[in-house]
Amino acid sequence: MIKNIVLIGFMGAGKSVAAKELAKRLKREFFSTDALLEKKEGRPIAEIFQASGEAYFRKIESAVVKELAAREGIIVDCGGGVFLNPENSAHLKKTGTVFYLFATSEVLHERTKAHGHRPLLKVADPLAKIKELLKSREPFYKQADHQIDTSGKTNAQVCAEILEILKNE
Ligand code: S3P
Repeated sequence: MIKNIVLIGFMGAGKSVAAKELAKRLKREFFSTDALLEKKEGRPIAEIFQASGEAYFRKIESAVVKELAAREGIIVDCGGGVFLNPENSAHLKKTGTVFYLFATSEVLHERTKAHGHRPLLKVADPLAKIKELLKSREPFYKQADHQIDTSGKTNAQVCAEILEILKNE
């Protein structure tokens, strides 16, 4: 069985760009839980949150995770909330090597502030929200197999670190 490569972490951690680069370098297919979910629902995430609520979003997200974890040899870019659900993390860990991409709250804020598509960060003080969410989420994220600090690194450097770890596994 060829293990999946699973990227988790907070919004703005660089999961999507790393997943694309790894897919290119390893000649593997990559999938984003967010993109698949939007395709399934035929509407953007912001609209799903607004019209149907976060609980509904999480339900569809879990279904997408289950489908992806059942495949092999793929690269999975997980939405920032995926690993908070123990059922999701168990599925993903079973068939994949999980990398937690992390950065400081300030870096995450810098990387996310220009984009308005993330409903959880559409608040008066996004940096405070990032700090608050990160504090409660870190114990879940840290259940990954490996942790990669992305602060001050290029995507190429992050991917090189991931590839080096995989080479030694
Ligand atoms: C979320 C992260 C988003 C998306 C949704 C909720 C979260 O994905 O799934 O807005 O709870 O952290 P990205 O981490 O890809 O931005």
